[in-house]
Amino acid sequence: MAKTLDQLIGEGVAGRRVLVRSDLNVPLDGTTITDDGRIRASVPTIKALADAGARVVVTAHLGRPKGAPEERYSLAPVATRLGELLGADVAFATDTVGESARETVAGLADGQVALLENVRFNAGETSKDDAERKAFAGQLAGLADVFVSDGFGVVHRKQASVYDVAQLLPHAMGGLVAAELDVMKRLTESPERPYAVALGGSKVSDKLGVIDNLLGKADTLLIGGGMVFTFLAAQGHQVGQSLLEEDQLETVQGYLQRAADTGVEIVLPTDIVVDTAFPSGDRTPQPQVVAADAIPADALGLDIGPASGEAFAAALKGARTVFWNGPMGVFEVPAFAAGTRAVAQALTTVDGLSVVGGGDSAAAVRALGFADDQFGHISTGGGASLEYLEGKELPGITVLDN
Ligand code: 3PG
Ligand code: MG
Repeated sequence: MAKTLDQLIGEGVAGRRVLVRSDLNVPLDGTTITDDGRIRASVPTIKALADAGARVVVTAHLGRPKGAPEERYSLAPVATRLGELLGADVAFATDTVGESARETVAGLADGQVALLENVRFNAGETSKDDAERKAFAGQLAGLADVFVSDGFGVVHRKQASVYDVAQLLPHAMGGLVAAELDVMKRLTESPERPYAVALGGSKVSDKLGVIDNLLGKADTLLIGGGMVFTFLAAQGHQVGQSLLEEDQLETVQGYLQRAADTGVEIVLPTDIVVDTAFPSGDRTPQPQVVAADAIPADALGLDIGPASGEAFAAALKGARTVFWNGPMGVFEVPAFAAGTRAVAQALTTVDGLSVVGGGDSAAAVRALGFADDQFGHISTGGGASLEYLEGKELPGITVLDN
C-alpha cells in the first residue's frame, strides 16, 4: 500500500523539500487559462504540504511539446493562477532541472511553493528509453527529499516525473490521486445498479478497451459523439460524410453481438444533427435533424438529435451509477451542443453516483455553464480514468506500492 499524504505529513515535512507531480495541463487561449479545474483540484495537496512547513516543488506538464522548450507551452500563466488560488506567491523556475530550478528551490523558505517549467521541455521525461528516462528522473529527484504523486491525469503514463522518480525518492500518494481512485473503485467494485455509461468523443479506436471491459460490467451503454457513426455503419446504415473508422467495423459488430448475447443494452441515437460542412470560423452552421438511418450522402453528423438527447437523459436519470466520458457532439458550437448539454443535465439529476470523466468532458460541462458541485465527481483524468475502467494497470499507481 502506498503511503498516504496524511501519513507523510504525520511523519513531519517541515523544512523538507517535497516534489509534487501535479497535472496542471489546462486548456489555454494564448496565455489565458480557459478552464482552471485541474489547478483548483491540485491546490489541496500543495496547500496541506505548505501549511505543514514543507518546501513544495511542483512539477507538471502542459500540452505535448517535443522534448524542448516552446513558448506556447510555458507553465508561466499556470504559476500565476496557482498563486492566486493558494493566496501566496509561487516562485516560477524558467527551466525544469537547470540553474533556474536549482536556485528557485534553494531560495524556498519553509511553507513556500515553487513551480518548475514544463517537465516535457526535457526529452528524458517521455523517452521510451529506460536509461534516458531514469537519468532525467535522477535530476528531478536531486531537487527534493521526498516525492508526492498527485497528477491523476498522468498516472497512466510511464514517464520520468510520474514513474521513475518514485523509484528514486521516498514517496506518498497525494490527496487528489487518492480521491480519484476511491471514485474509480466505486465504479468498478460492485457499482450500485442500474449502472449506465455514456461514451462520446471522436474516435471509437480510443475507446475499444473500455467498451470491451464495460460490456461485462455496465447495464447500459449509451454511444454518441463522432464514434457513433462507426456503430451506425456497423448496423448497415449509410453515414454520409460523417467520421467513420472502417477498420473498426468488424470489432464494433462484435461488440453489438456480445451486448445482445449478454443482455447489455447498447443505446444508439435514433436521430442526428447534420450539416453539409464541419463548423468553421466564417461559415454559419445550417443544422438539420435527420433520422439516424437516413443520413444524406452529402451530410455529416455533428451531434445526436433531440429525440436521442431525451432518450439518453431518460436512461441516465434512471441509473444509480453513471460514468460519462466524451462529448456527444461538437459542443463548442452552439448549434451542435444540445446533445452534450442533455447528457450533462441528466447527470446532475442522478440519484446515486454521477462521474464526469476527464479532460474534454470536464471542460465541456464548465463551458456549458454547469457548476462542479452539480455532479458527484468530475475527474481530472480522461485517459487515466478510461484506462482504469479498462482494467489496465496504471504505472504511476503501482509504482507507489513499492
Ligand atoms: C491529459 O490532458 O490527458 C493529461 O494531462 C495527460 O496528458 P497526455 O495525454 O498528453 O499524456
Ligand atoms: Mg490525454
